[in-house]
Amino acid sequence: MSHAALRIIHEEHVALSAMLRSILLLLQQHRRQGTLPDFAALRAMLFYVDEFPEKRHHQKESQLLFPKIRERTPAAAEVLDRLDRDHANGESAVRDLEHALLAFEMLGEPRREAFERAAQQYVDFYFEHMSVEEKQVLPLAEKALTAQDWAELDAAFLANRDPLTGHEPEQEYRALFSRIVNLLPAPIGLGPSH
Ligand SMILES: [Fe+2]
Ligand SMILES: [Fe+2]
Repeated sequence: MSHAALRIIHEEHVALSAMLRSILLLLQQHRRQGTLPDFAALRAMLFYVDEFPEKRHHQKESQLLFPKIRERTPAAAEVLDRLDRDHANGESAVRDLEHALLAFEMLGEPRREAFERAAQQYVDFYFEHMSVEEKQVLPLAEKALTAQDWAELDAAFLANRDPLTGHEPEQEYRALFSRIVNLLPAPIGLGPSH
């Protein structure tokens, strides 16, 4: 991956995958122990998904990268339409999951299973989405885009990074990120491994 934009997308996918896997592992652990999870920790993680992957990562893809690929290779239209639809639904999907978490927190045990199921579905959907991007879209972009396209994309992607990929967060996000980093296992975070 020779272009900064591609490298950044890939790093952001890795960080998000680690976060999503941690959520599922956390839930499994508590189910096994018969305990309730740390709801504040889960809220912080889902809030992060809403603020970074949904609002920033997806927007960079849908607004900057995909239009350039569409311009250069009309054959990509179908897969890009599907991914754009996923992006458009992403914010309401994570809000629904946040609501299911709130129900689990407020109502307890009777809502555990519904939240676990919703979390599993959300994570499966996301893994599939990222895998289509990695396997189909990024290689296509690498072949089709011009040096001028890459210069513009690299500049835009470098200006806007996910702190979970090891970049200093903006001031307003510092507390949230140090909290999440302490919850997540290495190598992304500083917490104990699962
Ligand atoms: Fe995406
Ligand atoms: Fe992506």
